Amino acid sequence: MSNDLYAVVGHPIGHSKSPRIHSLFAAQTGEPVEYTAIQAPLDDFAATVCQFFEGGGKGLNVTVPFKEQAWELAECRAERAQKAGAANTLYQNSEGQLVADNTDGYGLVRDLVNNHGVRLEGARILVLGAGGAVRGVLSPLLAQKPFSLSIANRTVAKAEALVALFDDEAGAANLSACGFDEPDQPFDVIINGTSASLQGDLPPLCANVIAAGTVVYDMMYSLQTTTFNQWALDNRAVQVFDGLGMLVEQAAESFRVWRGVRPETAPVIDALRND
Ligand code: ATR
Repeated sequence: MSNDLYAVVGHPIGHSKSPRIHSLFAAQTGEPVEYTAIQAPLDDFAATVCQFFEGGGKGLNVTVPFKEQAWELAECRAERAQKAGAANTLYQNSEGQLVADNTDGYGLVRDLVNNHGVRLEGARILVLGAGGAVRGVLSPLLAQKPFSLSIANRTVAKAEALVALFDDEAGAANLSACGFDEPDQPFDVIINGTSASLQGDLPPLCANVIAAGTVVYDMMYSLQTTTFNQWALDNRAVQVFDGLGMLVEQAAESFRVWRGVRPETAPVIDALRND
């Protein structure tokens, strides 16, 4: 019997860790999965997706810069993908319709709560950034019932727009928007969802947002400590994590959506750390 075919689509795609992660999941679970990487032309994502499914492909992960297009292309959307406005997971349902899901926020919450033992319920959370990456994780964060969730962004109007969009999901949580210079009290959890470190930049935050018990999480990951996490360490943060666990957890959730089997993530996170 031949393997079922899956792939990640992006541009560029050469450095994606998804093929490695999913081949470890397949080996671990014994699922007959083959997983490759596809670089779609910047102006023809839709044709790449159609070709893949017409050729018998079973499911796609989608990464930069196509997540919004994937969301638009889909005929149905999982509830958690609705407000994210972006999709990282595609598959066809039994009627042959293209379904979009977003497992990024689930992956973030699962890494924080299950892998790092962080309590989000009742927590004061500061999220930095108001782009696609942050929009994709707000629903799952709010579902954890934090005490408050403050979105700080360089362009404050974009943070305000997210507050307006997610206000109905906030429940009792105090959801607010601000600039980077405003917060000056300690938070329980600080999540960096900006792309500032790609340019070697730091959001200009007041160091008072960090106290001894603050958990700092950078949604980016790299072999070395990220620029943001180094800033946090230099300002007395003790618990500092990067986004490698999130990457593996979102992949595991996509695998579960496609295959109905949840892989163990801890050994895969360890393997990637040691690559
Ligand atoms: P992504 O899909 O990674 O979220 P995006 O939608 O372009 O990409 O959003 C990038 C985020 O990083 C935004 O919040 C952006 O701030 P603005 O909304 O003000 O543009 C933030 N960002 C990018 N470069 C930054 C920098 N040098 N300093 C601070 N924030 C930065």
